Amino acid sequence: SEDLPLKGKKILITAGPTYEAIDPVRFIGNHSSGKMGYAIARTAAELGAEVILISGPTNLGLDHKSVELIRVTSTHEMFVAANSYFEDTDVFIGAAAVADYRPKFVADKKIKKSGDSLSLELTKTEDILASLGEMKRNQKLIGFALETNNEEENARKKLKRKNLDFIVLNSLQDKGAGFKSETNKISIIYPDKKKDFDLKPKKEVALDILNEIIELLNA
Ligand code: C5P
Repeated sequence: SEDLPLKGKKILITAGPTYEAIDPVRFIGNHSSGKMGYAIARTAAELGAEVILISGPTNLGLDHKSVELIRVTSTHEMFVAANSYFEDTDVFIGAAAVADYRPKFVADKKIKKSGDSLSLELTKTEDILASLGEMKRNQKLIGFALETNNEEENARKKLKRKNLDFIVLNSLQDKGAGFKSETNKISIIYPDKKKDFDLKPKKEVALDILNEIIELLNA
């Protein structure tokens, strides 16, 4: 129907940071709050979708009858969860700030302070979105890019490499955009066009993104 344009659609969303364990008490993480991904999840449910939200560690909750919230900690756990739901999904939105590297070895006891320096060897994590991009059949695949330089060029490379339908670019250079803030300023990049949006509350940004997805699904 008109006011429930996502009725009958299954949407899988990743949100938040990931934590990569160093030892039992320490981890490598990032400043992602999860707000953008949660806003998309809530708005998608309000538009009629059945939503599965796979979230890294955040302070947020989401109580809606059409949202199943799955909490994970590491990139690997997020990867396993995303894979297990992907086949049965219409749209995947990768809004999580996933770690690119994790400690190669996790110490089983707390690492003691000793020398003046300490090196950690890191190894690549799975790229969830790129791997779903290889598996994709009819699913629409949406990614995010947060860049500090050569933003558009880097976003375009990711769009292509990860086999996405569009990528949402948010720049750290824009005031009030990105991590932790209540607002965001985005551009949506398609293989053949680009749309720029104004700075606005994340709830409204979520609606802009979902409207693009509704167009894709109806095309
Ligand atoms: O880290 P990167 O800038 O490549 O992230 C771009 C997109 O890929 C984001 O949508 C992010 O959620 C996703 N991603 C992912 N798994 C990773 C790294 C990034 O799904 N390991």
